[in-house]
Order: sequence, then C-alpha cells, then structure tokens
Amino acid sequence: MASKKETPEKPYKTGLPRLMELTKIKKGLCLISVVLSALAALASFIPYYSIYKIIALIIQNYPEIRDTDLMLRYGLLALGGTFLNIVLYFGALAVSHVAAYGTLYQLKLDFASHIVKLPIGFHIREGSGKLRKIMDENIEQLEGFIAHDLPDMVAAMVAPVTAIVILFVIDWRFGLVTFAAIIVSFVLQGMANGGQKTSDLMNVYQDALEDMSNASVEYVRGISVVKAFNQTVFSFKRLHDSIQKYTDSVIPYTLSNENAMAVLTAALNNMYLFLIPMGIYAGRHAADYRSFLTDFLFYLLFVPAIAAILMKVVYVMVNSMNTANVIERMDMVLAEKPLTEESGSAAPKDYEIRFDNVTFSYDKDDKKALDHISFTIPAHQITAIVGPSGGGKSTIANLIPRFYDVDEGSITIGGTDIRRIATKDLMDMVSFVFQDNFLFKQSILDNIRMGRPGASEEEVIAAAKAAQCHDFIMSLPDGYRTVFGQSGVKFSGGEIQRVAIARAILKDAPILVLDEATAFADPENEFLIQKALSRLMADKTVIMIAHRLSTVTNADRILVVENGRIAEQGRHEELRAKNGKYSELWAHYTQALSWKMERGDA
Ligand SMILES: Nc1ncnc2c1ncn2[C@@H]1O[C@H](COP(=O)(O)OP(=O)(O)OP(=O)(O)O)[C@@H](O)[C@H]1O
Ligand SMILES: [Mg+2]
Repeated sequence: MASKKETPEKPYKTGLPRLMELTKIKKGLCLISVVLSALAALASFIPYYSIYKIIALIIQNYPEIRDTDLMLRYGLLALGGTFLNIVLYFGALAVSHVAAYGTLYQLKLDFASHIVKLPIGFHIREGSGKLRKIMDENIEQLEGFIAHDLPDMVAAMVAPVTAIVILFVIDWRFGLVTFAAIIVSFVLQGMANGGQKTSDLMNVYQDALEDMSNASVEYVRGISVVKAFNQTVFSFKRLHDSIQKYTDSVIPYTLSNENAMAVLTAALNNMYLFLIPMGIYAGRHAADYRSFLTDFLFYLLFVPAIAAILMKVVYVMVNSMNTANVIERMDMVLAEKPLTEESGSAAPKDYEIRFDNVTFSYDKDDKKALDHISFTIPAHQITAIVGPSGGGKSTIANLIPRFYDVDEGSITIGGTDIRRIATKDLMDMVSFVFQDNFLFKQSILDNIRMGRPGASEEEVIAAAKAAQCHDFIMSLPDGYRTVFGQSGVKFSGGEIQRVAIARAILKDAPILVLDEATAFADPENEFLIQKALSRLMADKTVIMIAHRLSTVTNADRILVVENGRIAEQGRHEELRAKNGKYSELWAHYTQALSWKMERGDA
C-alpha cells in the first residue's frame, strides 16, 4: 500500500551498523582516513615513550645530570612524534572531509529523487517542513560523523588499547589499578545515564524538533492570514504548542546527557584516587626504589592523558548515537514505497472513467471520505460533481491521478485499473486545474511550458491566448519572461488560474479534472475563465467540481455527492424536477445569488 497509514516496518539497519553501512558509499576514502587516523593515534604515544626514557635517565643518575645528548635525542623523538601525529591526523581529516561531502551529495540526490516518486498523499501527510529538515539538516549531520567521528572513533579504539598495553608492560600493578579506575568510571556513567531512557528522550526531542519545523513552515506560509486576523505567534496555536513541546523535551534530554557526563568526567579526572594508594604501597615494598620512582612518575603524567582519550570515546559515542537517530528518520522516508505499478503497463481502450465500489479514508481511524461509491464518467462528456462542503468531491478528483490509492474497490480508465497504468502514462493522460494552483518562481513562459516540456514558444503563446491570459502577460514588465513572484509583479487569483489553464491547454491531455476552477473569479474574470475552459474542454473527458451551480447547468451529467456517497445523478432539468438534494442546493444557490443582486454586488 503506497500512500499512507502503516509506518513502514524496518527492513534497514539502525544505529551504528547503519552509519557504518553509509560509509560504504565512499569506502576507499573512508578506509584511508581510518588507517591514517589509527597511525596518528599510535604516533601520539611516541612523546610519552620519550618522556618515560628521559625520566628514567634522570632518576637513574640522580643527583648527577648525565647523558644529556641521549636526552636531547629523546626530546627530538618526542617532537618528531608530535609532528607525525599532526601530519597523519591532518591527512586523515582531509580525506574524511572529501568522503563526507561525496556521501552527502549522493544521499541528497537519492533522497530528492525518492521523494518525487512518492504519492502526493505522502507529502500532504508529512508536511514540507519535515522533509526540508531531513534533507538539509539530518543528512548534513552525517558530515560530522564521516568527517570527524569516524576517524576519531578509530583513534578512540586504538588509543586506549595501546595505553592499557603500555600500562601493563611498565608495571602491571599500576596497570591494574588504572584499568579498575576506568571500569568503575564507566559503570558510574552507565548508572547515571540509564541507557534506554536517554535514547527515548532523544526520540521525543527529535519528534518535537520535526513538528516545530512543520509548524514554522506553515506559520510563515500563512503569515498573511495571521496578520490579517491580527493574530500573534501565541494565538497561532500549533506553532506555539510545538515550541512549548520542544522546550519541554529539550531540557530532560540535555539533562539526561549532562548528568552522566558530569559523573564520568569527575570519575576519570580523579584516577589519582586509585593510583596514589597503590603508589604508597608499592613504594614501601620496592626492591629497586629508583626504578619504582621512574614508573610512578610516568604514571602520574600518563594517567590524565588516558582520561582525555576516554572522554573522547564518550563524546564520539554520544555524537554517533545522535547521528544514527537523525539518519533513521531519513531511512523511514526512504522506506516509504513509491506507488506500485504492476508489471506490463496496460493501455486503456478509451477515456471512460469508472469508480467501482470505491472506499477511501485519509487516515485509518478517520471517517470514510468515500464510502462504497460507484459511478461512471463517460468519455468525451462533461460530468459535474456538486454537493455540500466536505462531501468528498475533491477526494474523487484526487483519486483519479492516484494522489492516493483506494482502500477498497477500483478505479478504471477505459476498462484498465489505474494501478496497472504506468505512473508516467497516467500523468500524461490527466491534467488538472485546482482551486489553488501553484506557480513556480520562474518565468511565465516556463511556468506554462511545464504542461508540455519541449513545447515551442509559439505553442506556449497560443495556449496562453486560448486561456485568455495573453493580454495581461504582455502588459507585464518583461512579458512572457517576467518571473513569477519577482517583486513588483502581482497576480490576482483569477490570473494565476488562467495561467494554470494555459498550462493544461498546452498539455492537451484527454482527461481534464477541474476542481473549483472558477472559484477565485470576479464576474469579468469568470467570463474569461469560462471562455478559456470551453476551449480546454472540447472533446475531453471532463470532471468539473463547482460550487457555482450556474457553471454546471450545461453539463452532460451531474453527480450530487454527499457524505462520501452519490445522493443523486442526472441532468440539470431532471434533477431539479426530482425535488431532492439537488433542487435543495439549487434553491440555496439562487437565493444567495438574488441577495447579491439586491445588494448590487453580483
Ligand atoms: N488531506 C486530508 N487529510 C485528512 N482528511 C481529509 C483531507 N482532505 C479531505 N479530508 C476529509 O475528507 C472528507 C472529504 O473532503 P473533500 O475535500 O473531498 O470534500 P469536498 O467535497 O471537496 O469539500 P469542499 O466543497 O469544501 O471542497 C472531509 O471529511 C475532509 O475533512
Ligand atoms: Mg474540495
């Protein structure tokens, strides 16, 4: 089932394994970076080795100072080690950044090409704010993982192992207490953290963030309404609530992290607590006091470095957990299935449309928008759909081009189930003019040309003339090259609608869906739009949804839709004679019209 409802089950990996899987996109580069980073980590121990050797020389010869040449050489070795560490780490980061941006590029491309294949119903449900956030921010966060966390993670694995080996080799007793200190620190951290709780809180936090993203986009889009009705961000409840929820989620989430981090930092920074008692004990029983002192001094210097390394391990882990969580959100969208197409795309024999026992609801628990509805829209005729608001008219229009798939029953075009028609062919077959049409921020020429990419400029102009919008386009500062949405250029709703009609005329598809196509029109505009539409409708299978019943009196057939069912059907005169739902609607309509006449504003 393509368009909705069930959250897709997870066929994909999650957490760290999923992040590792993503590094395969730039496998070679990631591998080079990881190897360089591991070598850098090893090189970082060279200075410690030098220091150990120098301490040993000083203590063995104390109180004399001897072997200064040898000490100098160890000093240079330390310097060389540091330098090597920097060069290798720098190299690792340079390579990892190239890998990271290559991966981002690929993922964004995959994501963008996936979401265009998803049914429009998915986009209506999920909201553009959330998808924008995933594409811009979530995928971006992977940059941090591949460019920084991945090399650091490998360093963070190599370094402690090397450190612990060194500790045991030099003096196993000190090695043991340091090791014990590390274990105790992590146990404390685990207790403070509460594992599952943190990842639950992170989920709540991420959900709140996405919701706020959607609400912000909605708020900014609707800002004119917000202002016109003198609303503030406080009365725009959805945004206000989402900000509140975000605030409520961010504090527990941050605290759950910070408590654990504070405990761990305190424990790691106080390793001397373990080390010094062992030092006192070992010092008292030392056979060779000088060599004991050498080792002990070395430990006092080396142990803080271990704390720093282990802190890095923790940071890398927390970061990766975060990244894994946001990537999972990308994966959930990627797991949404595009509309299914049965193999062997079939060609309809004509353009008659049949709804056969169709049931559909937008949400599982919602009431049915269409309830076991059956009717036929004959080819090459005009079928009007009228009825009270919320009755299901637009839903019928949305199902024909498969913006959603039906729950039960079937829709056929020329006898072929639309699920068996290739999406591309279906899109070629149907054009729409909606109540709120969308123009892109590009030239009027290109906006119309969307109806049929590849149409010549003459064809675009001919379509615009037929749609009665040539004159007003020519009055724009740059004519057809005027960019829609550019400052100083204003379009009325009726003008936008005529541009949309021009688009549909250019497309010249055999099936035409008009949902409230004259809704915006003032009387003069309406006349022009009607004229444009009559050009468009000639010889097509037309589905016309209208509130203004005057526009449907000439339709070949009128369907009256109420509560997701067909209440009546027939021609205007037949239905009026019936004295049913339609004549009731007609009475309301003519009454409203006469009120307007009396007030003189019709
Ligand atoms: N995107 C959506 N998500 C959830 N429910 C929806 C959605 N669109 C419509 N509905 C619901 O489906 C039912 C039918 O709505 P539909 O838009 O088809 O009515 P309509 O006849 O076109 O009404 P109008 O004359 O106001 O345009 C209504 O109950 C409506 O609330
Ligand atoms: Mg509607």
